[in-house]
Amino acid sequence: MKNKDKIQIEAEYKRKFKKLLDLNKAYFERDNPEVSDLDFDNLKNELVKLSNKYKFLKKIQNIDNLVGHKPSSKFAKIKHFKPMLSLSNAFEKNDMVDFKKKINNFLNHKEEIQLSSEPKIDGISSTIRYENGILIYGLSRGDGTFGEDITENLITIKDIPKKLNDAPKILEVRGEVYIGKKDFEKIKDKFANPRNAAGGSLRQKNSRETAKIPLRFFAYGSGEIKPNTFENQSDFLKKLERWGFPVNSLCTTVNTIDEIEKNHSKLESLRSDLDYDVDGVVYKVNSFKFQERLGSTSNSPRWAIAYKFSSVKATSKIRKIIIQVGRTGAITPVAKIDPVTVGGVVVSNATLHNEDEINRKDVRVGDIITIQRAGDVIPQVLSVDKSKRDKSSKKFIFPDKCLCGSLTKKEINISTKKKDAVSRCTKGYECDFIAKEKLKHIVSKDAFEIEGLGKKVIDNFWELKLIKTPADIFSLDYKKIEKLEGWGKLSVRNLQNAINKSKNIVLDKFIYSIGIRHIGQENAKILSNFFKKPKKFSELFNQKKRNEILKNLEDLDGIGDTQIKSINDFFSNKTNSQITQSLMLSLNIKDIPKVNKTGKLSNKSVMFTGGFEKMSRSEAKALAEENGAKILGTVSKKLDYLVIGNSKPTRKKIEKAKELKVNIMTEKNWYNLLNR
Ligand code: IVH
Repeated sequence: MKNKDKIQIEAEYKRKFKKLLDLNKAYFERDNPEVSDLDFDNLKNELVKLSNKYKFLKKIQNIDNLVGHKPSSKFAKIKHFKPMLSLSNAFEKNDMVDFKKKINNFLNHKEEIQLSSEPKIDGISSTIRYENGILIYGLSRGDGTFGEDITENLITIKDIPKKLNDAPKILEVRGEVYIGKKDFEKIKDKFANPRNAAGGSLRQKNSRETAKIPLRFFAYGSGEIKPNTFENQSDFLKKLERWGFPVNSLCTTVNTIDEIEKNHSKLESLRSDLDYDVDGVVYKVNSFKFQERLGSTSNSPRWAIAYKFSSVKATSKIRKIIIQVGRTGAITPVAKIDPVTVGGVVVSNATLHNEDEINRKDVRVGDIITIQRAGDVIPQVLSVDKSKRDKSSKKFIFPDKCLCGSLTKKEINISTKKKDAVSRCTKGYECDFIAKEKLKHIVSKDAFEIEGLGKKVIDNFWELKLIKTPADIFSLDYKKIEKLEGWGKLSVRNLQNAINKSKNIVLDKFIYSIGIRHIGQENAKILSNFFKKPKKFSELFNQKKRNEILKNLEDLDGIGDTQIKSINDFFSNKTNSQITQSLMLSLNIKDIPKVNKTGKLSNKSVMFTGGFEKMSRSEAKALAEENGAKILGTVSKKLDYLVIGNSKPTRKKIEKAKELKVNIMTEKNWYNLLNR
């Protein structure tokens, strides 16, 4: 073979290998698959073929060693009996104070609530189902609702018992699969970090390959248990140990904030001596009764939180300060730095948050800085070493214009009446930078979740002028895409299928997707329960009707002045309205499914006024909804029950309810009705 050909083949192989590694990384580290499974497999097969044909390639980078590849769609998907949620994070003492306050408020409980404290193992979560004590199957977390059937791989793990004595009829044990630090040393040339190694090995198609990797397991929780006789988490952990599961020996219980802080420092100091990666401490309300009452928001339980350890730091030099524009127009300054490895990840960007932050720290181009990376969030600039500053360095002047050329503005916060620290572009979809970010939000996981249409593809399609507004996603020129580099018939068909599938969307996801400021997933749910049907939601496009609707929204729990103003701002903007309307025309937005028909309050509407003795308003609301009720925000003829709490009920509401002959109930009657 000619040397020239060899160089060319080598270059192509390296380029494709790099692409594969990037995709792999995108999947594992950012949980953000950029291509379909099929495209990933095709690329991998291409590399396998190439390296089999030209053996010298194996010496450069051996594709056979790439273990941490994407999950194959060949793993069967199984629905979790109980969803596998994720945890919200705390980073400092105040976050924990808030967490404790919130649970006390929700439960209307005055005393200190005991928490189970467990090291947060940085591995891959799995759930293992036992029926009559026999291991039936094991699943990965998947998307939280559906897991992948990875039984064959899980049973290669010695830590996981295959049979249990004295177990409930149904028992699902949840825990973390990980690789010990020492064991990782032996295989580290193949993986970026122990977590990647655990994830990759667990998703091997060939379980014999998994068996070669020294995977370990710590049990920390449960899914379905029938019958469930446990009263609290700490007892359950003890029982897990008796069944033969490894339970982390540093698990304990704590009560006060002081205890939490002490415990946190203790675990943080032990961290480097442990043979496994721990990235924080999980605190869970110990009582299962309380856990049940607290329930979950859309993503995470209200009864648990991950208190992260303070993060890893590194120093580097600022090359440039650039501006990034977010989907809500927020202007974020970002320092482009000399690449540096922080906690195993190469970092070349660090956020500077906003203008005030730059001024406070007096950050300048050319400065030597310390950066900090906590969890998966983008690293931040912690401090500047002014002693190393060049004399000729100049103060950074924060631009007063967005990248689109429009002026920026700092808003006044409605509740605090203070000026916001963040400057925002004064345009919406008219700003190309915002428009592009909005598209990325629309296709993201919690919104339309279009597989194969990730951030990079949006960037690419945007450059090629294939998309500009959300509706364009649904009228893509597939013939054109097929001819683009990196695309083929199959990948285009996959994309088309994913897009068509996403057209069927439930109202709450749709509301969240359109990206109204201050309307996150929770508020989108509240709004969708109010609107029920897309047709009713469309009334927001009409100014008169909008005013009426906004008035009614005032009474909805969770929707305050900030949200109402934001909804009004969004729909008053003509471009926003037009873009949203044409998006709606491309979709089949589903009504909110009818509520729990069998519930004691199905088809009944309820409203609360005043504070309760036994539980908080939020819990009363959640309980009513669980029993099938609709929660109304105003007293009208539609209202079936007005439940009055002892503390400060609104007289006007009671009078109006009397006038309209609405059923009025005390807190006690209300519990009686629900047999509580
Ligand atoms: S509880 C709903 N307990 O952290 C409860 N998680 O961000 C969710 N993790 O997916 C999990 N140690 O992979 C829980 N003692 C522990 C844990 C733990 C590690 C991981 C797990 C989970 C993630 C949550």
